[in-house]
Amino acid sequence: MQTTLIQITDCHLTRSEEVIQRVNTLRSYHSVLDLIKSEIQDISLVLGTGDISHDGSKESYQTFIEGINRLGAPHCWLPGNHDLVEVMNDQSDSNMLVSRSISLGNWRILLLDSHVENKVYGLVSDTELSFMENELASCTEPFVLVALHHHLLPVHSVWMDQLDVKNSSELLMCLKKAPRVKGVVYGHVHQETDQTEAGIRFLSSPSSCFQFRPGSLEFELDDKLPGYRWLKLKADGSIDTGISRINDSRS
Ligand SMILES: [Fe+2]
Repeated sequence: MQTTLIQITDCHLTRSEEVIQRVNTLRSYHSVLDLIKSEIQDISLVLGTGDISHDGSKESYQTFIEGINRLGAPHCWLPGNHDLVEVMNDQSDSNMLVSRSISLGNWRILLLDSHVENKVYGLVSDTELSFMENELASCTEPFVLVALHHHLLPVHSVWMDQLDVKNSSELLMCLKKAPRVKGVVYGHVHQETDQTEAGIRFLSSPSSCFQFRPGSLEFELDDKLPGYRWLKLKADGSIDTGISRINDSRS
């Protein structure tokens, strides 16, 4: 048996339809949802990995939830640097899983909060580290996937790598000590990456709106199109994964 996850990230939705970095973020969000609907059946869980909103408005979170419900699957989310946690936590619906520790077959999914108020970089607090260590020690599933907003491994863009998780070495040490951790997924970098370190797969996804150019020294947009990541978590602990992008920015 396998578990199918969808990662959708960095949607940057706003109170009303807006163009940000040359992309209409509402329109591209729905184009990515259309693509997911056409490509993936039997979704076990949709994971929103932060920067759900660009302006922190209640309406932007409601727009996200209304869109996700087109997929007819359970969903959960975690905050990014653009999100307002207190607003986000007030928005929910019957398909949303509010737990940050989710059991799916042979897998446990752990959601971490790496956002720091009014900062673009991330940090995993002592409380978050303890939460993760406790869950890793007590969960009964043989395999674990960790999700957070900020990236843990460098993506080799000079400007972006200054905006990672500031205590990434501490978090990486915990993860590498736990053999059941098989994967880590994040957003924030607005580009696809797939790296393996100490047997753990570190994955990022394209944004559902604008993209950042890989390998850039300074902030630079990429002309790649919006997309999402799919993950098939296998019963033996392996992960099949890939990304998919829309094929027309006007759609
Ligand atoms: Fe973002």
